[in-house]
Amino acid sequence: MSNINNNIKEILVSEDELASINKKLGQMITKDYKNKNLLIIGLLKGCIPFVGDLMKNIDLDLRLEFLKVSSYLGTSSTGNVKIKEDITINVEGYDVLIIDDILDTGRTTSFIKELFIQRNAKSVKVCCLLDKKEGRVIEFDADYIGKDIPNLFVVGYGLDFNEKYRNLPYIGILNENYYK
Ligand code: IMP
Ligand code: MG
Repeated sequence: MSNINNNIKEILVSEDELASINKKLGQMITKDYKNKNLLIIGLLKGCIPFVGDLMKNIDLDLRLEFLKVSSYLGTSSTGNVKIKEDITINVEGYDVLIIDDILDTGRTTSFIKELFIQRNAKSVKVCCLLDKKEGRVIEFDADYIGKDIPNLFVVGYGLDFNEKYRNLPYIGILNENYYK
């Protein structure tokens, strides 16, 4: 077993930067959802570290649920969004905030946003830690973005390459020989 850090070419978002992003987003969400009924829905598994750190910066009552989706194989989106495990509560009356690790083609998040609109949530917004705007194949914007990044394949802090590297404490760029 090799140390995971060995396969990282460059750190793109450091632990310190992640902490300040979470603080800033948490403050914005706290302000915007003051008189609302906040239901955070994290998209598994990539959201795990982000949602955990972000919610500690939200100074409001909130409810937390998770949805398991898949659309990626290796380093490319299949464009085919599947719900692997659904939430078990009725979203009517809730102000849903969908939390995802990264916005790339836009397919996953727009599909999930539409799903909760159809289920009659009071409102539906999207918060993504990273935004790869150049990767977009459909028109879609998140309501809250931690950081815009170039069109590179990144791992760490929840983001995986074939289920590995989610446990890195920062966001890094993989050495190309590991996936090409
Ligand atoms: P989209 O549907 O193309 O916007 O893809 C969103 C999902 O693809 C994310 O939730 C990630 O799971 C995955 N993804 C997109 N870009 C990357 C990346 O650079 N590294 C790891 N996963 C990624
Ligand atoms: Mg993923």
